[in-house]
Amino acid sequence: MSENYGFGTRAVHAGAEHDPSTGAVIAPISLSTTFAQSSPANPVGIYEYSRSDNPNRSAFERAVASLEKAKYGLAFASGSAAESVIVHTLNVGDEIISVSDVYGGTHRYFTKVATKTGINVKFTGRLQADLANLLNEKTRLVWIESPSNPTLSLTDIAEIRQIIDDYKKNGHQDQKLYLVVDNTFLSSYVQTPLIHGADLVMHSVTKYLNGHSDVVMGVAATSNEELYKELQFFQNATGAVPSPFDSWLAHRGLKTLHLRVRQASNSALEIAKFLQKSSKVQLVNYPALPEHPQHEIFKKQHNYGLGGGMISFRVVGGAASASTFCSSTKIFTLAESLGGIESLLEVPAVMTHAGFSPEEREANGVYDDLIRLSVGIEETEDLVADITQALDKL
Ligand SMILES: Cc1ncc(COP(=O)(O)O)c(C=O)c1O
Repeated sequence: MSENYGFGTRAVHAGAEHDPSTGAVIAPISLSTTFAQSSPANPVGIYEYSRSDNPNRSAFERAVASLEKAKYGLAFASGSAAESVIVHTLNVGDEIISVSDVYGGTHRYFTKVATKTGINVKFTGRLQADLANLLNEKTRLVWIESPSNPTLSLTDIAEIRQIIDDYKKNGHQDQKLYLVVDNTFLSSYVQTPLIHGADLVMHSVTKYLNGHSDVVMGVAATSNEELYKELQFFQNATGAVPSPFDSWLAHRGLKTLHLRVRQASNSALEIAKFLQKSSKVQLVNYPALPEHPQHEIFKKQHNYGLGGGMISFRVVGGAASASTFCSSTKIFTLAESLGGIESLLEVPAVMTHAGFSPEEREANGVYDDLIRLSVGIEETEDLVADITQALDKL
């Protein structure tokens, strides 16, 4: 599979070779937990035991690596398991510097689990401004989510890379210090963090990569062999791996990623423009809008000029209006999660971000009247009509 092919061709074909024994165009699901050996320590094929590796997981990992322009992919039982394995590579006393408006579960993992194993986590709402001062000999990971959840603010990955490189050149050449980007919100189609200088990209596959709201899974991809080997060791040793069936389903979903995300992004742009014009809406967060505070980063960092399928906006009338709106839509389903073919909406302050204190929420722009949309692949005009009739109820 040539890496020069376009995204859609790689999405369909990477990791999807015809089955050599039968010619099957679609890979069979290989449920076997163990693989025969012809003599001790001499497996018949390349697999030994399914936790260490299996054909369906390997196919999915190779496909994601191709889409992320990485040499290696590693799949996990969930996005949270991917994060946990990444953090497992750190030692007592090591440090993570993270953007403050990360996914709530990531914040929970960093503050309530990683800290228990002696890892320090520093959060900043101004990573670009603060990073040079925060970096020190204990720093092992710099963690970015761009766009952030749910306010969709962007971080310039190349600028963060530059700050890290300048620090390393200044007497810290040998420090193991990796830049990690959680690419869940945009998917591999809209953003390719490794080409902007990230060392490692990760996803909750549960969202866009699988795309059909029927698999919980995670993945990480890198071109750094040393980091890959370390992660591979912990992937096997901790056992936080996906089943062959989930790997197969996620790989099937991945093959249409470009079509789904293109449609969702195009609809999201129409919806964002429509919301901007409504007197019932006080603020729209969407990176492809010229008014977005980091629109210049959007222009250089997002592929194909796409804003992605996620929008957030503040309605007039406070929490009660947000609640009325979310209970009034007919196509958008009120539910957590995102990135599926069906449109979803939620009120982050009382749903996905309820675990943050009110002060933390307000500091990050997560007001009680903020609504988050995950735009699906239904017809654009039906989605706009659904939003129109729900706004009319306010
Ligand atoms: C940005 C982001 N990262 C990580 C995760 C965790 O993924 P999972 O739910 O698959 O464990 C999520 C889940 O919502 C997410 O939105």
